[in-house]
Amino acid sequence: MHLAVVDPGWSLQAWRERARAAFTAGVAPEHLQWDSDAQLGLALASPLPEVSEAGSAVTVPAALLELAGAVVCHRDPGRHALLYRLLWRVAQGERRLLERATDPDVVTATALGGAVRRDSHKMKAFVRFRQSGVGEDAYVAWFEPDHWILDRVSPFFARRFAGMRWAILTPYRSVRWDGQALAFGPGGVRTDAPAEDAQEELWRTYYANIFNPARLNPTMMRQEMPQKYWKGLPEATLLPSLLRDAGGRVRDMAKREPQAPRRRIPQRRIEAVPQEDGGLAAARALAADCRRCPLWEPATQTVWGEGPEDARLMFIGEQPGDAEDLTGRPFVGPAGALLDRAFADAGIDRAAVYLTNAVKHFRFQQRGKVRLHQRPDAGHVRACHAWLQREIGTVRPDAIVCLGATAAAAVFGAGFRLTGQRGAWHTLGNGVRAMATVHPAWVLRQPAAAQAAAYRGLVEDLRAGNEGRAGALEGSG
Ligand code: URA
Repeated sequence: MHLAVVDPGWSLQAWRERARAAFTAGVAPEHLQWDSDAQLGLALASPLPEVSEAGSAVTVPAALLELAGAVVCHRDPGRHALLYRLLWRVAQGERRLLERATDPDVVTATALGGAVRRDSHKMKAFVRFRQSGVGEDAYVAWFEPDHWILDRVSPFFARRFAGMRWAILTPYRSVRWDGQALAFGPGGVRTDAPAEDAQEELWRTYYANIFNPARLNPTMMRQEMPQKYWKGLPEATLLPSLLRDAGGRVRDMAKREPQAPRRRIPQRRIEAVPQEDGGLAAARALAADCRRCPLWEPATQTVWGEGPEDARLMFIGEQPGDAEDLTGRPFVGPAGALLDRAFADAGIDRAAVYLTNAVKHFRFQQRGKVRLHQRPDAGHVRACHAWLQREIGTVRPDAIVCLGATAAAAVFGAGFRLTGQRGAWHTLGNGVRAMATVHPAWVLRQPAAAQAAAYRGLVEDLRAGNEGRAGALEGSG
C-alpha cells in the first residue's frame, strides 16, 4: 500500500504531482491511500517515489483537468482518491469516461465540481469589502465559504479590484492584495474584519430605493441569496422589513390610481434659442417652452440649472432623472443624494455652485408604471447645447466639472473619452477651465464591493475640481 499526501489539500498542482508519481510507479487506485482517507493505514503505507514532469507517463485530458481543478477544492475527504480513479480509468483506455453521465464516479465528481463552482459564484457575489479604518486606504472582507475555494477565486478579485488594497479573511485561510501580488496567510475570525464602514449607509439607501416589492420572489431570493450570507451584507438589515412590507406596498401600488405626472410644458413652441439677454431667469423661462428635440413631449417639465448666477464652479450632469423631472430641480434623486454627500466630503458647498445638465428633459422608457432612464443620444445633446452655452456664458464660472460621459461630450465634443482623460484639465474656447469625472449614478451602479473605491475616486475628482477653480483664480491674479 502507498500513501499520497496532497498539501495543501485544495491544490490542483499538489494533487497532480502525487497522481503523476503514483501513476508512473504503476500504483493502482486500490493500492493508494490519499492523505485524507489514510488514517487507518498510515503506518503500513509507503510514500511514493518522486517523479519529474518529464518522466510522467500520463497526459491528463483537458476536461478532466478542468473538473479536477474544481473537485480538489471540495471538502469531501474522498476527492483525491476519486480523481485518481478517474485518471486511472481514462489512462487504461476509457477515454470518453467523462461523457458517461451515469457512471457513479462521474456522477460524484460532477456533483462535487458543481458544488465548488456554486460556492465560488456565491463568493464573487457576496463578498463585501469594508474600509479597514477611518481614512484608511485598505479594505477587508469576511467570508465563510463551504469549500476550500479561496485560492481558486482570489485571482478574480485581483482582476476586479486591481487598483484597491484589500484582504479577504475566511476561517481557514486569508489572502491579501497589495496592488501587485496575492499573498496567502492563515485564517481568522469574523471579528478580525471591520463590522461596518461609512459607505454602508449609502449603499442601504440606494438598495432601499431600487428595491421593487412587485418583483419580489422570496423563494427565489432565499435560493439565490441564502441566509448564511446575509451577515456579511450591509443590505441584509433592510431585508426583513422590505420582505415583510412588500405585500402591503404592492397592494397599495395596485390600489393607487396611476399618477400622471403634472405636465408643465406650455403651449408656445421654442425651436431656436432666442438671443436676447436677460440673465438666467429669462433663459430659464424660454427653455420652459423648448421643443428643439422630441424629449419635451413625454417629459413633465424642463429641468433648468440651479445655483447662483455668479457661481465660480459649475457642475454639469447628463439629464434629469425621474425625481428631477417631477420636481423640476437637478440632482434631487438617488444620484443627487450621492452627489450631495460627495460634495460634503470634498468640502464643496452645494448652495455656492451652479448645477445643471447637458440635456434638460428626462428621457425614459415607460414600462408599466415605471419610467426607466434612457441615455440621451447625440441629437438630444446637440439640441440642448445652446441652453448649456447660455448657462456657461452667463455664469462664466472659473471651472467646470463634467459628471459623466454625456456631459463631457457636450462640453468637449463627441470625441472625448472619459476613460483616458478623466481628471485632466482643458481650457475651453471661452477661457473657462474644465475637466470630467464619473457620474454619481455610475458610482451607485458599481457592485457593493467596488463602491467605496469608486466613491473615493469621485470625491477626489470633485476636490480637484474645486482646487482647479482656486488655481484658475490664482492664475487670473
Ligand atoms: N442625473 C443627472 O445627470 N442629472 C440629474 O439632475 C439627476 C441625475
